[in-house]
Amino acid sequence: MDPLNRRLLKRLALAALAAALAYWLVGAAAEPISAAVCAVLAAALILVLAYDSDLRERASDIDRLQRINIDLAQQAARDEVRQLIEAVAEPLLIVDRELIVLRANAAGRALLGAGIEGETLTVFLRQPGAVEAIQSVSLTGQPAEGEVQFLSPTEGTFAVRANVLNLDDGRILVAMRDVTKSRLMERMRVDFVANASHELRTPLATLIGFIETLQGPASEDKAARVRFLDIMAQEAARMARLIDDLLSLSRIELDKHVRPSTPLDLRPLLTQVGQTLAMRLEADSRRIEQHIPESLPPVIADRDQILQVLHNLVSNALKYGRSGTSITLTVSVVDSPPSGQLPHVRIEVADQGEGIAPEHLPRLTERFYRVDTARSRQMGGTGLGLAIVKHIVEKHRGEMQVSSTLGVGTTVAFTLPLAGRAGAGDGGPRP
Ligand SMILES: Nc1ncnc2c1ncn2[C@@H]1O[C@H](COP(=O)(O)OP(=O)(O)OP(=O)(O)O)[C@@H](O)[C@H]1O
Ligand SMILES: [Mg+2]
Repeated sequence: MDPLNRRLLKRLALAALAAALAYWLVGAAAEPISAAVCAVLAAALILVLAYDSDLRERASDIDRLQRINIDLAQQAARDEVRQLIEAVAEPLLIVDRELIVLRANAAGRALLGAGIEGETLTVFLRQPGAVEAIQSVSLTGQPAEGEVQFLSPTEGTFAVRANVLNLDDGRILVAMRDVTKSRLMERMRVDFVANASHELRTPLATLIGFIETLQGPASEDKAARVRFLDIMAQEAARMARLIDDLLSLSRIELDKHVRPSTPLDLRPLLTQVGQTLAMRLEADSRRIEQHIPESLPPVIADRDQILQVLHNLVSNALKYGRSGTSITLTVSVVDSPPSGQLPHVRIEVADQGEGIAPEHLPRLTERFYRVDTARSRQMGGTGLGLAIVKHIVEKHRGEMQVSSTLGVGTTVAFTLPLAGRAGAGDGGPRP
C-alpha cells in the first residue's frame, strides 16, 4: 500500500476510534441520539485537525523547495559570473565593502597574485589612489576611476575602474586596463613635439639675431653682411632639411603597413649614391669602395626609400669617418638564412673613423638622438637620419644592425627581402 493510502486509513481509523469513544462516553450519560451526534462531531474534528496539519506540512515543504530553488539559482548565477569574468582578458576583481576579494579572474590573479581570493585587496594593491577610488564606490554608489603603477612581476600602468555590482550586499566590480603602451605613446608624442620645436627654435633664434644685427649695428658693414647672410642661409637650409626629414618620417609612418611590392635592382642605386655624393666625397678626399657580387638578384623594395637609406648611411660615414679614408659598401646575398628569416640581401656601409661608444648604440635610431649634439648640429645634422633608416627598413620587413669600435670605425647593415621567394611579399598573386 502506498504511503498516501496508509495515511488516509490511519486517519479514518483514528476518526472511528474518536467517534466510538465519544459515543461510549456520551452514550453512558445521555440518550443515544446525542451520543451519535457527539461521535460524528468527534470524528469530524479529528479529520479537520489532520487536514490542517497536512496543509501546514505541505506549506513548509513548498517553502523548503523554494529555498532550495533560490539556492540553486544563486549558485548558477555565481557560476555564470565566474565563467563570465574568467572569459575577460583584462584583470577583473569582485570585492566586498571591506575590500575582501571575493573573486578574481585569471588575468587578475596573474597580475596581483594567485592567492588573492579571500584576502584584503590593500595587501596586494598598495596604491592609495586606486584604493580610495574603490572605497568611494561603496560610499557613494557611483563609478570611480584611478590608476596603478606596477613594478613587478611586470612593469606597467593600469587604469582602474570600479562599479557597484550589487547594491544590497555592496559587492564592487573592479576592472583594470593595461594603459602602459598608450601612456608611453603620449610621452613620446609630447617629447617629439618638444624636441622638434627645440630643433626649429635654435636656427630660428640665430636667424632672428642676425636679422636684428643687420638691421641695426651692422647695417653699413658690408663684410659682416656677407658673413652673416652666409650663416643665415645655412641656418635656413637646416630648418628646411629638418622639415623635409620630419615630413619624410611622417609619410613613412603613415603607410608603414603597406609593404613594398615591386622588384628592384640594387646595382644602379648603389652607383647613384656615389654620384650624388661625389662632390662631398672629393672635397674630403674620400672614395666609396664597392663589393657587390657578380649576380645580384632583385629585392622587393621602394626605389626612392632605399636611395634615402643609402644616402643617409653614406652621409654619416662621410661626416663621422676620417678624412682620406674610404667608405666600404658591401652587398651579400643570403639565400638560405636560418629558419624564421626570409632569403635576403645584406647591405653594409662601413667607415673608418671615431666609432661610437657601446652605451649609445641602442639609442641611435631614436628621433633627434645624437652622440654629440653640438657637433651634429654644426654639421647641419637633424638627428633624424638613422630614425628614417630604421623606419624604412622595418617597413620593408628587413633588419638593421649597427656595430662600432671606438677609434676604429662603424658599420651599419640592413637587409631587404629577395624578390620571388616564398613569403617575400613580392605582391604577385599566389596559387
Ligand atoms: N658612421 C657613424 N660614425 C660615428 N657616429 C655616427 C655614425 N652614424 C651616426 N652616428 C652618430 O649617431 C647620431 C645619429 O645619427 P643620425 O644620422 O640619426 O643623425 P645626424 O647624422 O646627427 O643628423 P642627420 O639627420 O643629418 O643624419 C649622430 O649624431 C652621430 O653621433
Ligand atoms: Mg645622419
